[in-house]
Amino acid sequence: ESYDMGGHDTYMHKEISEQPDAVDRVLRGRIDDRFSTVHLGGLNLDAREARTIRRIKILGCGTSYHAGLIGAGLIEELARIPADAEPASEFRYRNPVVDPDTLYIAVSQSGETYDVLAAVQELKRKGARVLGVVNVVGSAIARETDGGVYVHAGPEVCVVSTKCFTNTVTAFALLALHLGRIRDLSVADGKRVIEGLRRLPGQIQEILKQEDEIKKLAKRYADAKSMMFIGRVRGYPVALEASLKLKEISYIHAEAYPASELKHGPLALIEPSLPTVAIIPDDDLLEKNRAALEEIKARSGQILAVAHQEQEKADHTIVVPKNEPELDSILMGIPLQIFAYHTALALGRDIDKPRNLAKSVTVE
Ligand code: G6P
Repeated sequence: ESYDMGGHDTYMHKEISEQPDAVDRVLRGRIDDRFSTVHLGGLNLDAREARTIRRIKILGCGTSYHAGLIGAGLIEELARIPADAEPASEFRYRNPVVDPDTLYIAVSQSGETYDVLAAVQELKRKGARVLGVVNVVGSAIARETDGGVYVHAGPEVCVVSTKCFTNTVTAFALLALHLGRIRDLSVADGKRVIEGLRRLPGQIQEILKQEDEIKKLAKRYADAKSMMFIGRVRGYPVALEASLKLKEISYIHAEAYPASELKHGPLALIEPSLPTVAIIPDDDLLEKNRAALEEIKARSGQILAVAHQEQEKADHTIVVPKNEPELDSILMGIPLQIFAYHTALALGRDIDKPRNLAKSVTVE
């Protein structure tokens, strides 16, 4: 595949940089200020049907699964519908209970991932309603689903996903807002979230301006043999995705844990040679997260925080702009895409085509 690199050395760098425009595209034409809601033309789900949904189950693989985890959180927060995400392959092999009151959502950048497609086909065979959150228009998953939301990120060439992840999560915010406004989300909260969504492109631009500092940090940590990523509730899927990104392109071993689980095992690993990346939004869990940093510091672990303000216990903090609490996870992952990129670059990796991986896995 080739299309204009626009002065970037890699597609990954180009695609990271395109995120302000990409997010602008996923929002465009969908916001309805009059009713503080969003319209999603392809959903094929009227208000009466939307009110009957008892659960939402999101299925995807890799980065799309992580976007689905954030999506489930957004749906629970904004629409108050119980929601969770599961890797599509696990779902289809465990003979899942298919419930008529559950709405299933398949997430896929390419729309061609076999495990997701097979899960959709199995669900359809059992009479379930399945929507798609897909980037590639007219792809197999887009065609097999009953409706859905296109994420409009534009073509993504780099094997690892960046702009599609951000756009998918933003598309989930739109879906959650749409469902929320049909159910119990107030006009005022709808308005607040819409205003937050509109701030995203500018705030992403601000994060991109920090590339030089993030690059220095990446060089500092590039000789680590392994890294720990932690976050809590909204921050945990961000930690999962950031650790995946780092291992995919730098080949540094990384694992992600909920910060609350540290004391149940991974704390045993903490020592000066194992740096921790901590996702610390300025939300109601801030104090608890700070306590986790103290635990790590007490064991001489190095800490890189991604936060809304400098963290005293951290060795370094990447400060990101604050949005509405529900939308913070969209922004907090972006500096860590840049971090993974520069770590891989410092190690001389083939960033756009990491070893052993394919952009889309269309076979079992
Ligand atoms: C492959 C890619 C991942 C991607 C996953 C799901 O494993 O290497 O980067 O997240 O497929 O792809 P999809 O197109 O379904 O989002």
